[in-house]
Amino acid sequence: MAIGFIGTGSMGRTLIQSFIHADKLAPEEIVVHNRTRNKAEELARNYPGLRVAADNRELVRQSSLFFLCVKPGEFRHVLEEIQDCVRSDQIAISITSPVMIRDLEEWLPAKVAKIIPSITQAVHAGHSLFIPGERLHATDREILWNLFSAISRPLVIEEDHVRIASDLASCSPAFLAHLLEKLADAAVEETNISREQALALVTQMTDGLGRLLTEGGFTLKSLQERVAVPGGITRKGLDLLDTGVGSVFHDLIRLTHAKYAEDVQQVKTALLTEKERNH
Ligand SMILES: NC(=O)c1ccc[n+]([C@@H]2O[C@H](COP(=O)([O-])OP(=O)(O)OC[C@H]3O[C@@H](n4cnc5c(N)ncnc54)[C@H](OP(=O)(O)O)[C@@H]3O)[C@@H](O)[C@H]2O)c1
Repeated sequence: MAIGFIGTGSMGRTLIQSFIHADKLAPEEIVVHNRTRNKAEELARNYPGLRVAADNRELVRQSSLFFLCVKPGEFRHVLEEIQDCVRSDQIAISITSPVMIRDLEEWLPAKVAKIIPSITQAVHAGHSLFIPGERLHATDREILWNLFSAISRPLVIEEDHVRIASDLASCSPAFLAHLLEKLADAAVEETNISREQALALVTQMTDGLGRLLTEGGFTLKSLQERVAVPGGITRKGLDLLDTGVGSVFHDLIRLTHAKYAEDVQQVKTALLTEKERNH
């Protein structure tokens, strides 16, 4: 049986490519379907042997395990389409945080898990966030753990922490890239260094920073202490950042959580069954 991917947008595609490049899945083991068919066909052209299913129902019939890689607002449509061909021996994995495991379990007889990936998995790095549903057996957990260990460090989290863990593991690559871009922009505006050189300097620095933290024995704290000697330039810069950054990260976390609460509510309403609607 194949591994299925419903939705081959940004994250569906990243997962497929990462599993293939890590030699964890062969293209022949993968079946995909995407609403806009040519996105799926492009993957099949790039990875000969990968199959494109005619629709999501055919994909489910061919899979032992399938990923739901669509946005929260698209879940009801997909679940309605596949519901009556999903079997209880299959594993369904949502990669979307605001869709609750118990709602998926209401809709599908399958064993369910939520696994939130990160763009960092494109280079086989970073954490994937693993929230197992109650129907998963120990062997299912092992299969999923093995699969994701090839491209990431899986981490079991509580469903209650999915938003904050996603902020840190999945959104932060974009947040930090934004801050670094601002730093490079300021460098260009303040000193006339070329944009190309400023971007090259922060990019290579980021590569080194990541490795110092993961392989070089540094923590975030010890790294700052090592670079910022008392009375030196970096120390002065850190003091300025301490006052300048203020409460922005608290505001950021409150904002992501407010948006998440909205999304959860919207998905919950969209996934109400006819019986619940009429109550
Ligand atoms: N991007 C990230 O870094 C990231 C990280 C962790 C989790 N996630 C989660 O992953 C989910 C997908 O995000 P994304 O960034 O991959 O979004 P995306 O690029 O918009 O991809 C969603 C894909 O689903 C397809 N789709 C929609 N309805 C479908 C249906 N009925 N049947 C088959 N395919 C369908 C869309 O097809 P079309 O081509 O027709 O639009 C699109 O290609 C989101 O819930 C997001 O929260 C994303």
